[in-house]
Amino acid sequence: MAKPPFKSITENKSTTSIKDSFQALKFVPRFFKEIYQTSPQLFFINITARLINSISPIAILWLGKLIIDEIIHQVSLENKDLTVLWKYVALELGIVIASDLLSRVINLTDSLLGDLYSNRSSEKIIRKSSELSISQLEDPDFYDKLERARSQTVRRVDLMSNILSQAESLISMTTLIAGLIYFAPVLILILILSIIPSFINEAKFSSTRYSLARSWTSERRELDYLRFIGANNQTAREVKLFGLTDFIAERFRELSDRYYHVTKKLAIKQNLLGSIFNILGVLSYYGAYIYIVLKVVAGAITIGELTFLSGSFNRLRSNLQGFFSRLTRISESALYLKDYFDFIDLEIEKSSLIPIPIPEKIQKGFVVKDLHFAYPGSREEVLKGVSFELKAGEKMAFVGQNGAGKTTLIKLFLRFYEPTSGEILLDGININRFDIDEYRQRFGVIFQDFFRYEFTLRENIAVGNIDEIQNDRTIHDAAEKSLANQVIEAMTLGIEQQLGRRFSNGQELSGGQWQKIALARAYMKDADIMILDEPTSALDAQAEYEVFKRFIGLTQGKTSIIISHRFSTVRMADRILVLQNGKVLELGTHEALMENPKLYADLFKLQAAGYQ
Ligand SMILES: Nc1ncnc2c1ncn2[C@@H]1O[C@H](COP(=O)(O)OP(=O)(O)O)[C@@H](O)[C@H]1O
Ligand SMILES: [Mg+2]
Repeated sequence: MAKPPFKSITENKSTTSIKDSFQALKFVPRFFKEIYQTSPQLFFINITARLINSISPIAILWLGKLIIDEIIHQVSLENKDLTVLWKYVALELGIVIASDLLSRVINLTDSLLGDLYSNRSSEKIIRKSSELSISQLEDPDFYDKLERARSQTVRRVDLMSNILSQAESLISMTTLIAGLIYFAPVLILILILSIIPSFINEAKFSSTRYSLARSWTSERRELDYLRFIGANNQTAREVKLFGLTDFIAERFRELSDRYYHVTKKLAIKQNLLGSIFNILGVLSYYGAYIYIVLKVVAGAITIGELTFLSGSFNRLRSNLQGFFSRLTRISESALYLKDYFDFIDLEIEKSSLIPIPIPEKIQKGFVVKDLHFAYPGSREEVLKGVSFELKAGEKMAFVGQNGAGKTTLIKLFLRFYEPTSGEILLDGININRFDIDEYRQRFGVIFQDFFRYEFTLRENIAVGNIDEIQNDRTIHDAAEKSLANQVIEAMTLGIEQQLGRRFSNGQELSGGQWQKIALARAYMKDADIMILDEPTSALDAQAEYEVFKRFIGLTQGKTSIIISHRFSTVRMADRILVLQNGKVLELGTHEALMENPKLYADLFKLQAAGYQ
């Protein structure tokens, strides 16, 4: 089997330095502002609990010292009095219980805050994506950015609890360090020397890990895609029919193996070095221990102080280790944070001109002037100087071979893209000058590749005008106009029927049934301009004829564009625009075009012959 031509993993891979990770930390304050805003109460409880809890380690260690010294003191006495001892024990017990409760409060509020924040940020990403232009969404670099922002929600939640724990641990450590400095300042030095190498190690690996994951974004996207087409009910038929399993599985294996090998190497190296540095830490603990023991033997400190110091030292060591590894994890996640805020802050392409109000009622109609257009990232012009007029109230059909540019022309009418040159005017005003939402609101459109939402039938129709989702009248009217009422009647649950196969009790529909539903969306609002882009390709000739008969009757006085390959439909239009290779070849009424022996007349005769 031929291997797909994958890029080598070393080429085009940018690297990210430790510096980048620390620079990314500047997003942390903004991040916490967002978390605070999701729930000030939870945030407050969490912070308070952590603050109180941060002093429990030193308190417990200190009580331990007091208890041991008190025991030794009592052992040496003739008349023993244990009241003080029991007080200490009771106090320690109280602190241990309180600290356990506080930890639970912290965990709980962490996870609640995390869930809330992750939901809010996902919602933000959905909203932001909708503000982006189609050309931005079709740009692969851009799409990767979106992907990173979307897929790293869990990381951001981790980041939150890591940073909060960091603050808590910082306070704990300050108290422990104060204790050590009071009794034996040398210990601090030993401690710091033992911990620094492993910190550097961690920091180095975390930025390598991140830049690896980042440079593999598009491959991981491909892996997801292969996973999807390899195991899913929508592709199952073709995969079986064409015997694609091996092709897909091998392509998946090849790519995933290469990713596995790079990450494996990294993980092994990191663990190897990590364990060496860890041994260093253990040695330093025993060095410190020997130092303290010698001091006890020399009578410089008590046994209680010995337990306190060795306890503090050990505690501090693990705290510091946690602190540093969290620090690297934080700077690593902060890079993901940067991806997220980069995405949220993306510049929206907006015209700086103040929008002109759209005419209440369209007077003259559209004028298309020498329109040229190439898709972003492509040099080839899809539209090469298209000019024509679509009068108010006129019904025009676009005809032309596949790829002629019909759908593209519609997309420009709807302002999904900016023309390379030329313009479209509505009542003499360039359509770019209107507020885009208000402008699109005037259209009732069904696209050739409309989306099949795996929602209920009601929802599938209502997406045409989602504000009316509870308005049964509007929905039923729209369904009747598009013949979708036949589909509704065939469903056991009627309009509340779940569609598609993804969710339980979903009902899959035929291509023609889906089209009738999609067509109903165009009727959901009383739009001034109706556009139907091959809405009936999956219907039989009889049904298509009926759909269009209704359409013509129902849209009297409305400006409309229909695209169809069936001439029985096309001839119902007032005028027909024949596109060829991105240019207007012919424009006129059916009769006029038939008299003129060009493409239209040829194609019409060809199709008519087929029906004879
Ligand atoms: N999103 C896109 N990016 C790049 N090229 C596109 C895109 N959509 C369509 N094209 C290209 O534009 C040309 C016209 O397509 P289209 O307008 O869909 O044709 P029609 O609707 O007449 O069949 C085709 O060559 C097609 O490959
Ligand atoms: Mg098309």
